[in-house]
Amino acid sequence: MTPGGREDPYPLYGHAREQGAVSPCGEGMILVTGYREVNQVLRDTAFHVADAELRSRWEEGFNDHAAKLMLSRSILERNEPDHSRMRSLIASVFTARRVAALEPAVAAAVERLLDEMAEPGAGGAEVDFMETFAYRLPVTVICELLGVPEADRHLFRGLAADLTVALEPVASEPELLLADAAADELAGYFTRLAAERQARPKDDLVSALVQVAAEDPGRLSGRELLANLVLLLVAGFETTTNLLGNGLSLLLDHPEALAGVRSGAVDPAGYTEEVLRFDSPVQVTSRVALANGLRIGELDAPYGWFAFLLIGAANRDPERFADPERFDPTRRDSRPLSFGGGPHFCLGAQLARLESTLAMPALLRRFPALARAGAPTRRDRWVLRGYQHLPISLH
Ligand code: HEM
Repeated sequence: MTPGGREDPYPLYGHAREQGAVSPCGEGMILVTGYREVNQVLRDTAFHVADAELRSRWEEGFNDHAAKLMLSRSILERNEPDHSRMRSLIASVFTARRVAALEPAVAAAVERLLDEMAEPGAGGAEVDFMETFAYRLPVTVICELLGVPEADRHLFRGLAADLTVALEPVASEPELLLADAAADELAGYFTRLAAERQARPKDDLVSALVQVAAEDPGRLSGRELLANLVLLLVAGFETTTNLLGNGLSLLLDHPEALAGVRSGAVDPAGYTEEVLRFDSPVQVTSRVALANGLRIGELDAPYGWFAFLLIGAANRDPERFADPERFDPTRRDSRPLSFGGGPHFCLGAQLARLESTLAMPALLRRFPALARAGAPTRRDRWVLRGYQHLPISLH
C-alpha cells in the first residue's frame, strides 16, 4: 500500500505467495493469493461484501463521505436480499443481446476515434494514448448505452478519477474530499438526466431504470437509482480505459505479440484475456466471513474476519498457470479472475472484452509505425490499475 508497491505490486504478491495461498495478515485479516481460493470466496455468499452497515462500524468517518455512501448504495456493495433485487433489474436491461447488438456501434466509434487521433499525431507528434483513445472509447460506449448526451461526456474523466479513490483501502482526507465533491456532482447530473428521461423517455438504460424506480420504488429507490447509474458510468469506463492502456503498453514491450495482433495471427480475444490476466485493471477486492466455521483453502476464517482477495496475484498463481510471469497472448482456456466471480461477477465483462477485441487490431493496422514516445506514468492506485499517461507516436 506504498507508492512503490502500487507502481509494481507483482514482486510483493510473490512474497505474499511464499506465505501460502492463504495467510493471516494482522488482526482479523487474511490475505488470499491463490487462484482456487480467491475463486472459492467469490462464489460463497457466506462471505459478504463490506456493506454500509459493516463499514460504518469499522471505518472512522465512513458516514461523513458522500462518495463512500454513494458507492455503498450501489449493487457492488450490497448483500442479499438487496443484491439480487437490484442485480435482476440491472441485468434485465443490460442483456447479452443488447451488448452484442452494440458491436457495429463500437466498431464505428473505434474508427471515428482513430480518425480524430490522427490529427494531433500528424508528422510523428507525441500523443497521449490514455487521453486520445483509451478513455474516449469506453466513455463513448457506456454513454451511448446509458443515454448520456455527447455534449456532456467531457465532464466525466476527471470526476470518475476523483470518485474512484473512494474504492481504495488507503486514501488521504484531501483525496476523499475530492471524491465527495465528484459524487455530489455526478448525483446532481444524473438527477437532472433522470428527470428529463422521466418526462420524455428514450430507448436507453437511464429511461428503463427511471421507469422501474418511478413505478415501483420498492424495487429500486430513488437513491439506489442514482448510485447505480453513477456506478455503471464509472465502472463502465475507468476499468476498460485501463484494459486498453495496459494492453497497448504490454504490446509495445512485446513486439512479436504486437505483430501477431496486427496481422491477425494472434486472436484478439485471446490477447484480451491475457492482458486481463497479466495486468488486471482490477487488482483486488474483499469479502467478510459472516458465518461460523468458514475456511478459505486450508485456513480457518473466523466470523467477522476480513479477506483481501488479490486478483492480480491469483491471475499469476503458478498452481493454475504455466509460466505465469510470461505474457503470452496465445494461452488457451485462461479464465483469469479479473471480472470477479459468483454473484457479483462483472455485468460489463462482455462489453469490455468487445471493446478491446475490436479496438486493438484496428489501432495497430491504422498506424503501422506506432511506437512509444516517452516513459509512461502509472496512476498512483492499487485497486484500479492503469496509466495516467502513455505517450506514443503514430508515424
Ligand atoms: C476491463 C474492464 C472491467 C473490469 C476488469 C471489471 C471488473 C469487475 C470486478 C472485479 C467486479 C466484481 C467486484 C467484486 O466482486 O467485488 C465487477 C463488478 C461490476 N462491474 Fe465490472 N469490470 C470491467 C468493466 C465493466 C463495465 C464496462 C461495466 C458496465 C458497463 C461494469 C460494471 C460492473 C458492475 C455493475 C459490477 C457490479 C456487479 C455486482 O455487484 O453484482 N464493469 N467488475
